[in-house]
Amino acid sequence: MAGGGVVSGPSGKHYEGHVTLFVALACIVAASGGLIFGYDIGISGGVTSMKSFQRKFFPRLLNAHDRNTYCRFDDQVVQIFTSSLYLAGLISTFFAMWTTSHWGRRPSMLIGGIAFLVGSVLNAAAVNLAMLVIGRIALGVGVGFGNQAVPLYLSEMAPAKLRGALNIMFQLATTIGILAANLINYGTEKVDWGWRLSLGLAAVPAGILTLGGMFLPETPNSLIERSRHDEGKHMLEKIRGTPNIGPEFDDIVEASNAAKAIQNPLGNLFKRQYRPQLTIAILVPFFQQVTGINAIMFYAPVLFQTIGFGSDASLYSAVITGAVNVVATLVSIGTVDRWGRKILFYEGGIQMFVCQIAIAVILKFKLPLAIGSELSKGWAAVVVVLICVYVAAFAWSWGPLGWLVPSEVFPLEIRSAAQSITVGTNFLFTFVIGQAFLTMLCHFRWGIFLFFGGWVFIMTLFVFFFLPETKNVPIEEMVYVWKAHWFWKRFIGDEVYSSYPTDVEKHNNAKL
Ligand code: BGC
Repeated sequence: MAGGGVVSGPSGKHYEGHVTLFVALACIVAASGGLIFGYDIGISGGVTSMKSFQRKFFPRLLNAHDRNTYCRFDDQVVQIFTSSLYLAGLISTFFAMWTTSHWGRRPSMLIGGIAFLVGSVLNAAAVNLAMLVIGRIALGVGVGFGNQAVPLYLSEMAPAKLRGALNIMFQLATTIGILAANLINYGTEKVDWGWRLSLGLAAVPAGILTLGGMFLPETPNSLIERSRHDEGKHMLEKIRGTPNIGPEFDDIVEASNAAKAIQNPLGNLFKRQYRPQLTIAILVPFFQQVTGINAIMFYAPVLFQTIGFGSDASLYSAVITGAVNVVATLVSIGTVDRWGRKILFYEGGIQMFVCQIAIAVILKFKLPLAIGSELSKGWAAVVVVLICVYVAAFAWSWGPLGWLVPSEVFPLEIRSAAQSITVGTNFLFTFVIGQAFLTMLCHFRWGIFLFFGGWVFIMTLFVFFFLPETKNVPIEEMVYVWKAHWFWKRFIGDEVYSSYPTDVEKHNNAKL
């Protein structure tokens, strides 16, 4: 990573800062936060498809031969095992919102790390279903605290010019976590107690996050937010590697005063002037989930077994989709700031839609309903390829952008509350998909792919009509973008508009 540099804000101010040891450590924390999130996403589908695991916790699955092909895995308890994590995550994110601002980013990361450790130990040692589900809930608390505090920690530690890149790094680490889980499942499937190893290995990144929470420095923003100005200033000098931090320090103080002046941040978000941001905070994560991606990420091995693959081949195919997910995320890192967000959304949307329709048609005509029937080898291979092409499209569009775009449009005074709404909505619909997918597959059969395809169609239209391009737009200048937008301009009254320009005017004047 390149070091050093000066960054100009929209107001023409200069922020100095180098890539110091602290920034590098922040990257490691980001990586461990993303890895755990991804590991939990990828691990459950693989273990639920293992015979030794089914025998111990879900013996009904082994005797499900009286059901039709699509219903083999339709089991509420299997789905609770997968999805309970996200319900716990959803609830704890709102607790994390409080601890992160009152106690600091570090304590939240520490709580997250410890909850993860407890969850992975309970899961690895599980002797009954209750232990398994309680372990998943503890992991959920970890995800709730981790996903709230880690991205915030990162954006505050990173010098301004690295902020966007680090945001996508979190997503990249997530995809690597999913792939690692798929690979580990593939390796452990051959051992009778292999599922214990699969579930227990989550303790490795959890340990790193816990150590981070214990030993990393607190962010200057958090110190200042809690009125510890001197410590905050000292810390800013240390992490930026220079004593010339005046403008950045002043901005943090100003921002924190503005944030303190708001009595009820969540309520504030419902004011008419924030309607565009509120819509995006809710719809973008909702749309991201109804692409159907987690049907694949959670249940790929189970899905592959449904269409007739053996246990081993199913886990192997999940490894392939996991690898495609990682590589395609790199594509988005390389193009998002050059081509812009909307091009990636359009291209990804069309590609996902086409694949989903094609998969539905193949399953309708080529997968017989009768018990024990399967796709022919050739058609099964075509379905795997189509799923890979679909995953690639997601990974360079809605995957990273589903997190990046919301984070770019929230002005400071609603940022933390709006971010919690985004994380909460994401977890809510991750939970819903995790809980409902296998049942939907049983009832909708091949139509499940048309269902998700329909949503992809709608969200692509939404991007076309309602989502402004945010490439190269500083957050403070977003108000001009809304004001110029054919639909959103009606919500931006002149009083809102005129309260903004001070800094931007300075910027424009500076440019003249
Ligand atoms: C989504 C997850 C998904 C992952 C797949 C993330 O952006 O929020 O739900 O499993 O991408 O890579």
